Amino acid sequence: MLIMAIETSCDETACAVVENGVKEIATAVATSAELHQTTGGIVPEVAARKQVEYITPVIELCIKKAADHLRIDTADVKNRIDALAVTVGPGLIGSLIVGVEAAKALALAWNKPLIPVNHLVGHIYANFLPQDGIKPPVLPAVALVVSGGHTDIVLVKDHGRLEYLGGTLDDAAGESFDKVARLLTMGSYLGGPLLAKNADLYTGSNLSEKLPRALLHENTYNFSFSGLKTAVKRLVDKNMYEPSAIAKEFQEAVIEVLVAKTLKAVQATGATTLLLGGGVSANKYLRTRIQERLPKLTFRHPQKISYCTDNAAMIGAAAFFDK
Ligand code: KG4
Ligand code: ZN
Repeated sequence: MLIMAIETSCDETACAVVENGVKEIATAVATSAELHQTTGGIVPEVAARKQVEYITPVIELCIKKAADHLRIDTADVKNRIDALAVTVGPGLIGSLIVGVEAAKALALAWNKPLIPVNHLVGHIYANFLPQDGIKPPVLPAVALVVSGGHTDIVLVKDHGRLEYLGGTLDDAAGESFDKVARLLTMGSYLGGPLLAKNADLYTGSNLSEKLPRALLHENTYNFSFSGLKTAVKRLVDKNMYEPSAIAKEFQEAVIEVLVAKTLKAVQATGATTLLLGGGVSANKYLRTRIQERLPKLTFRHPQKISYCTDNAAMIGAAAFFDK
């Protein structure tokens, strides 16, 4: 089964053709991220306008790549597509509408079914995309979705049967990485990966002051990361510590809570598989800490960095399995 999937929830315009939910046979993506560097944050109106500009060329390029892969004419690709899939939320409404309307138009013109996909479910299904010959994950599983907009723990009982266990009450994990990266002058927009790199490379002594681990001992699966910004700002203002030392303690604080709550969910549900998804799943320290704390677990994270962050293949995978 071939699904053409479209993802436009934020600042990426992405289209992919996915075979049987596991194999990406064609992909095309454009991003307006560079533009948001200049404003130090995403301006939804600007992102939506860029989606309008990019959507047609991205779809055309994806169709061309699919034709090359299938060794057929571009005009014949539509005959091989079984269904369309599109992210319907959560995300920036102006950006989402562009992808949804494009997918609806294609579904109508090609007379194909259209499968609506939740963006967060997409991040979970990024783990079903090819993993070096490993079979797709076995369910039930606990999923930790950590992105720029979300931090959620979900029990995936089976395809289409998800139970929300808890999530952030304020800032998302990725959002806090980005905001603290700005405070530490490690990037004005999406500085999370650079902050993580600085933290990983830092070999000096640890800070004598600890940052807060909010809700760590509270008996829920909820998180709160918004207080970290203020706490980091206080450390920065003291002018006593290297930015990389603060970055290391910050990363430790976020990841300690993420891992502890995930561990709790795994124990409480008896799940034997853990699925990590979302942009922050690219974080090496997070992966290492999970592996250390949960050695007996089948732990899966997206195989490529491009499957951690927003992409269309994960939407095609979710549409196939979760439909
Ligand atoms: O999933 P994603 O591409 O977009 C949303 O759906 O939000 O996630 C982007 C987020 C950004 O906040 C980015 O800073 C964060 O993921 N991120 C990281 C790393 N790589 C990406 N955060 C921490 N460590 C990383 N290595
Ligand atoms: Zn995302």
